[in-house]
Amino acid sequence: MTSYKELGLVNTKDLFKKAVSGGYAIPAYNFNNMEQMQAIIQACVETKSPVILQVSAGARKYANQNILRNMARGAVEYAIELGHNIPIALHLDHGDTFEICRDCIETGFSSVMIDGSHLPYNENVALTRKVCEFAHSQKDYVTVEGELGVLAGVEDDVSSEHSHYTEPSEVVDFVSKTKVDSLAISIGTSHGRAKFKPEQCTKDSNGILIPPPLRFDILEEIEKQIPGFPIVLHGSSSVPVEYVQLIEKFGGKLSDSVGIPEDQLRRAAKSAVCKINIDSDGRLAMTAIIRQVFTQKPDEFDPRKYLGPARDELKKLYAHKNQNVLGSAGQA
Ligand code: G3H
Ligand code: 13P
Ligand code: ZN
Repeated sequence: MTSYKELGLVNTKDLFKKAVSGGYAIPAYNFNNMEQMQAIIQACVETKSPVILQVSAGARKYANQNILRNMARGAVEYAIELGHNIPIALHLDHGDTFEICRDCIETGFSSVMIDGSHLPYNENVALTRKVCEFAHSQKDYVTVEGELGVLAGVEDDVSSEHSHYTEPSEVVDFVSKTKVDSLAISIGTSHGRAKFKPEQCTKDSNGILIPPPLRFDILEEIEKQIPGFPIVLHGSSSVPVEYVQLIEKFGGKLSDSVGIPEDQLRRAAKSAVCKINIDSDGRLAMTAIIRQVFTQKPDEFDPRKYLGPARDELKKLYAHKNQNVLGSAGQA
C-alpha cells in the first residue's frame, strides 16, 4: 500500500475548488512515456500551472503501472529541480471496474475515474458509489470522478451518433447518491482526432471543417442543478489543423480530422468546468515532428534526435493551452 502523499502528489479536491472559483480549468494530460511526462512538467513549471497526469488502461498496458506511478514521483522531483513546486495529481483515466480503481488507489494514485457511463443508470450509481466509499475511506482521501452521458470514441467504438448528452435532471440524484467529487459530462465533445463526421460540420473558405458548437445550454442547466460542483470535459483536443497538415505533408493520412475549437474550451473553462482532458493533440504534435525529422533527415537513426524535437513541440503545445485555452497559467 502506497499513499500518493508518499510520492509527493496531491488529490484534486483543492485544485478543483480553486479552479471553479478562479474561472479556469486544470489541464489533464495523458502520458505513456518519459518524453510526454517531461514535456508536461516543463510546460507546467514554465507557465506555473497545476496539472493532472492521466493514465489510461492503454497506458497501463503499454508502459506498466508501476513504472508510470514512479514516473509521477519523478515528475514531482523534476518540477522542483526545474524551479517550481507545482501541484501534481496522478489520475486513472476511464477506470471501468472497482478492482482497477482499488489497485490504482492502493499503489499511489491520488485520483481515479470510474466510468460507468455505458451502464444502466442504477448500475452506474452503484459502481460509482462503491469506488467513492473505498477511495474516500483511505487514510489520505482519494478523489473520484464519475460520468453521466456518453461521449463518442473510446466509450463508444461505433460513431458519434451513438453518443448521448448528459441529462441535467439526473445530476443531483447521481452526485448525492454516489458522493462523487467531480462529474464528467457529455455536451458534444468526443474522443480522438475525428470528433465529428464531415456531414455534421460546415466548411470555411479554405475547406477546413467547422464542427457544430458545444451544447452550452446543457452545461448551464447542469450548473443550475449543482452550483459550483466540479465539472469535467473529456474529448477536448482541438486537433490543430497545422499538425494535421504537417503530418499529411510528410506522408501521413488523417482524413476528416476535426476537434473542439479553442474559444469554446476557453468559454467552458470559465464556468464550473474545472478539468479538461487532452490526449489526441499531444499525439498529433509528436507525430508531426517525428514525420518531419524522418523525411528531412533520412539518415537519422538516434531516437533522441527525433523524440527530442517532438518533446520540444509538445512542451510548446501544452504551454499554449495552459496560457491561452485553459487559463491555468500562473495558478500554481
Ligand atoms: O480517453 C482516452 C484517452 O485518449 C486514452 O486513450 O486508451 O488509447 O490510451 P488510450
Ligand atoms: P482527446 O481524444 O480529445 O484528446 O480526449 C482525451 C480524453 O478525454 C482522455 O480521457
Ligand atoms: Zn476521456
